[in-house]
Amino acid sequence: MFYQPKSKQLLTVSQVDIIRRTFLIISADSAYAEEIFYQYLFRIKPELEELLDRDSSIQSKKLTNMLGLIVSQIHNLPELLPMLSDLASRHIGYGVRAEHYHDVGHALIAMLRDILGSGFDSDAETAWVKAYDGIAVTMIGISFGNAGAVQYQSASNVCQLAGKT
Ligand code: HEM
Repeated sequence: MFYQPKSKQLLTVSQVDIIRRTFLIISADSAYAEEIFYQYLFRIKPELEELLDRDSSIQSKKLTNMLGLIVSQIHNLPELLPMLSDLASRHIGYGVRAEHYHDVGHALIAMLRDILGSGFDSDAETAWVKAYDGIAVTMIGISFGNAGAVQYQSASNVCQLAGKT
């Protein structure tokens, strides 16, 4: 049985708009965005470097895949459930654990803040956190059950990271 998100409409129209607008800025130089994202992620959780296999030629597409999915589909989470169910199962196969979802969300928000600067205001942060958390909690619920989902720490729960490497 699918994990059931609490609300059908995860984001408001203006939050979807903010996400799409800021995503366009990020994707203007996606290689740079990925570099910054991985710097944060491997600083937060160095052992993820092995899981994400930085030498792989497809590695550079992982962030784009993840963000593309969030940006294009976030407006109606329940319709996404069958696809998220398959995606969550594949992530178990990749070796992804429940706590990794916080690490990735943390690095995502840090990267957005870093690149967008003052453009990443509190409305933008709220929208991205809501979008990422909604998908993450759904995937965790599908993969690890409600017990895993209730332990999820929001991507907004971001400590101050010292300067990047
Ligand atoms: C909102 C959460 C996430 C979304 C929407 C997402 C989405 C995706 C998508 C669309 C792919 C492309 C391959 C496929 O469809 O199976 C992918 C690959 C992958 N993701 Fe995620 N992901 C998320 C979280 C994570 C987390 C927390 C990790 C753990 C570090 C992770 C690790 C991976 C790995 C290792 C692959 C690549 C497998 C490969 O092609 O080598 N993902 N992800």
